[in-house]
Amino acid sequence: MCGIVGYLGRKEAFSILIEALKKLEYRGYDSAGVAIWNRGKIEIIRQKGKVDDLKKLASNKDIKGTMGIAHTRWATHGIPSERNAHPHRAGEVVVVHNGIIENYVELKQRLRNEGRRFSSDTDTEVIPHLINSYVEKGHNFVDAVRLAICELKGSYALGIIKEKERVMIAAKKESPLIIGVVDGESIIASDIPAILDITNKVIFLEDNDIAIFNEEGFRIIDTMGNAVERKIHTINWTSAMAQKGGYKHFMLKEIFEQPVAITNTLTGRVKEDKGEIELDNLKLPNLEKIKKIWMVACGTSYHACLIGKYIFESNLRIPVEVDIASEFRYRDPIIGKDNMLILVSQSGETADTIAAMKEGKKRDSFVLSICNVLGSTLARDADGVVFTHAGPEIGVASTKAFTTQITVLFMLMLFMAKKMGIFTTGQLKEKIGELRRIPHKIQEVLNNAKHIEEIARKYMTYKDFLYIGRGINYPSVMEGALKLKEISYIHAEAYAAGEMKHGPIALIDENFPVVVLSPYDITYQKTCSNIEEVLARRGKVLLFTDTSGHEMVERVESVFVMPKTIYELEPIISAIPLQLLAYYIANLLGTDVDQPRNLAKSVTVE
Ligand code: M6R
Repeated sequence: MCGIVGYLGRKEAFSILIEALKKLEYRGYDSAGVAIWNRGKIEIIRQKGKVDDLKKLASNKDIKGTMGIAHTRWATHGIPSERNAHPHRAGEVVVVHNGIIENYVELKQRLRNEGRRFSSDTDTEVIPHLINSYVEKGHNFVDAVRLAICELKGSYALGIIKEKERVMIAAKKESPLIIGVVDGESIIASDIPAILDITNKVIFLEDNDIAIFNEEGFRIIDTMGNAVERKIHTINWTSAMAQKGGYKHFMLKEIFEQPVAITNTLTGRVKEDKGEIELDNLKLPNLEKIKKIWMVACGTSYHACLIGKYIFESNLRIPVEVDIASEFRYRDPIIGKDNMLILVSQSGETADTIAAMKEGKKRDSFVLSICNVLGSTLARDADGVVFTHAGPEIGVASTKAFTTQITVLFMLMLFMAKKMGIFTTGQLKEKIGELRRIPHKIQEVLNNAKHIEEIARKYMTYKDFLYIGRGINYPSVMEGALKLKEISYIHAEAYAAGEMKHGPIALIDENFPVVVLSPYDITYQKTCSNIEEVLARRGKVLLFTDTSGHEMVERVESVFVMPKTIYELEPIISAIPLQLLAYYIANLLGTDVDQPRNLAKSVTVE
C-alpha cells in the first residue's frame, strides 16, 4: 500500500526522505518518487521499481534542498510506471497521495473542460490540478488546499508542496498520517517506523485535519479553517525494534519474537494469583443482553476470528458468527444493539474492516476492536479497544500479530467469563496459568527450528500442498496454508480433515504432500483415520502433533512434535511450526519473503 513521507528542516531532505521511505517498504509498493524544493523551484524524480533504484537514479543528479515529499506507490488506478508514480504536479503544486479518490472521473472531466492537461492514469492527479485551480483563482496556498479537499470524495493522506513558498501541507481522511514532533524540523509519514530515527514523539492526525508546516513549526486546522489541538504520543518502539535485528528477514525475526510479543501482550493484564484479567479499563455493555457476537476481519486476522469462535462458544455459550470483512456488509447482516461486533486487525487500517465497523455502528452494535497499531482508525473509532502489544510487524506475512490476536481473544473470553460468573476462581487461575506458560512453550518450538528447516528442504520442490486439521485445528491449517502460498507462491489448500473424503482425496498421490495438524485432543483419533486414507493412496504426510500424539508417528514420512497445551491455546503453539515451514520453504526458493509479489502489508482500499 502507498507510503508517504515529507520533511521540512535544516538538513538535506533527499537522504532523510529516502531513509524514511525505506522504512515504509514493508507496506508493499511498485514505484517510488521524491520531490525536493530548492529556492522556490521543485525537482521531481520518480520511477517504477524499488527505493534503491530511485536512489541510483538520483545519484546522477545534484538534488539539493531542505524541504521535500516522497512516496512509494502500490498501483490502484493505472499500471505501475514512471508516469503514474507520485509525486504529481500541476502548475506550481506537487502532491503525494495514499488512498483513493472516488469522484476522480467527474473532477477530471471538469478540470479538463477548464483546459487542464493530465499526464497520468491516476486518480491522484486531480488533486494537484484542483489545488492549482484555486491558487490560480487567487486563493492562498492553505485555502486552496482546504477548498480542494472539500471537493474530494474517498480517502486520502496527502503531502503537498508548492513552488515559491517554503510551506509543506499534510491532510488526512480515512488513510493514516502522522507527524513526528521535533524542534526545528517537521516530518510527516504514513507510519511510525519511518520517523523513529528522528523522533519518538508522534501526533496521529485525525480525519479532516490539515497540518501546515513552515520555518516556525506547525499548526493544525480543520477543513473549515478552525484551529484544532491534537495530543502528542510517545512511542516506545525503538528504531532498532523496527529493523531486522540480525535476522535475514523481518518475517523470521518476527516469528522468533513471539515469546516476547505474547509476554508483552499479557503483561499487566493477567493476575494469576487472583484469577483475574484486567483489560485496559475496557467497559463492556451488559453481557446478559448480548445475544450474539460477530467477529469480522480479513486474511490472517480472519483466521484468528475463526479460532476466537471456538474459544468463545465453548466457554461463554454465546453464539459467535465470523465473517470476512469484505463480505460482511453486502449481505445486510442481522446485527443490532443486542449484538457485539469484534473487529480484529493488525494494522487497524484495513479498509474492509473499517467499513465493517461503520456498518456495526450504524446498526447500534457495541464495536470492540483488537488492534496492534496505536492511533489507528480501528483503535480510535471503536467503542472499545484492546491492543495486541506485538510491536511493529514489518513482514507482509502476519506472524506475531496472529498469535497475539489469539492471546487477546482468549484473555477477552476470560474477562467476559468472569463478569458472567462462568468459571470458579480456581478454573480461572488454571486457564491463566496455562496462558502464562505459552511463551515458554513457543520457545521450545523455536529451539527446534532447525528440524523444521530440514523438513522444508525435503518438500520445497513440490508444487501443491494440502493442509488438514479438525476442530480448532481447522482454522490453524487455513492460516498455515495462507502462509505458504503468500510467501513461497506454492499452491496450498486447507480443508477440514473430515471433508477430505468428500472431494480433495482425488488429488492425493505421491506428488501431493499433506500437512496434518493433529495435537492429541478430542479430534486426534478421527484425524488418524484421515492420515490412513492419505497413506493408502501413497500420499506423503507431514504430521504436526504434540508429545501425547504417538499413534501415527512411526508411519508417516515427517513428524514435528510440539509441546502440549489446552485445546483453546493449541492454535498459538501450532502457528509457530507452520509459520517456520512456510518461511524456510520460501527462503530456500529465494522469494522476496518480506515483500511477496502483488501483496501489501496494509490493505487500505476496499
Ligand atoms: O492489518 P490487518 O490484520 O487488518 O490485515 C489483514 C490482512 O490483510 C492480513 O492479515 C494479510 O492476510 C496478511 N498478509 C497475511 O499474512
